[in-house]
Amino acid sequence: MGVTKPDDIKKVRLDKFLAKSTTYSRSEVKRLIRQKRISVDGELAKAAEQKVSRLNRVKLDEELIVKRELTYIAINKPAGYICAAQDEVHPSVLKLLPKEHASDLHFAGRLDVDTTGLVLLSNDGNWTHRVTSPKHENFKVYRVDLAEPISAQAVEQLISGVKLRGEDNLTLPAKVDLLTEKQILLSISEGRYHQVKRMLAAVGNHVNRLHRVSVGGVSIGDLAEGEWKELDLAQVKNYL
Ligand code: URA
Repeated sequence: MGVTKPDDIKKVRLDKFLAKSTTYSRSEVKRLIRQKRISVDGELAKAAEQKVSRLNRVKLDEELIVKRELTYIAINKPAGYICAAQDEVHPSVLKLLPKEHASDLHFAGRLDVDTTGLVLLSNDGNWTHRVTSPKHENFKVYRVDLAEPISAQAVEQLISGVKLRGEDNLTLPAKVDLLTEKQILLSISEGRYHQVKRMLAAVGNHVNRLHRVSVGGVSIGDLAEGEWKELDLAQVKNYL
């Protein structure tokens, strides 16, 4: 019968451990190993494939490297906040999080300053890439309040793909649910610059308000505006 090792003593490759626990990529880590800047329990690291666990003391030069915990966060962004670490005019979404979370998180897709709703953040770069890459077809669902009633023809165009101003390629197929004549749910799998606003402009309408309700398997649910929560494992695993 197999024995499950406690997480503490699970062994992983040295390069993987360092890439997860520092800001260096796997290839940069390999270079650091070749440059003899990495030690394990006081001895110079021999190879990127070498296995380490929490019980080993891994150092970069004189700095002890501690295993970084992975964090996955959903936040309901209010209008007026910006999805960037810093801005001269608007407060950052990161200001809504406790300091210990805010220090090393990346945005898994951004919303415009006036858009509200679901924003995902993590310090797991593979995960944020999977969430945002169109290849993985994680549909993002937006509730869109429109200036004009939407026509059947415009709905057809949005579904089959529209040409955005200044771009050559049509948008990928989208889904549209009509809520009222001036409100739709639009589901898209890409994240081009101001995509929803530009798609509606391309069919002769205008977005008055934009709110993101879900990204892939993660929904905003009853998360209040300005509030955040850690994602549960099932939601995170949707993307692994
Ligand atoms: N599309 C937009 O135009 N704006 C957003 O914030 C998100 C998608």
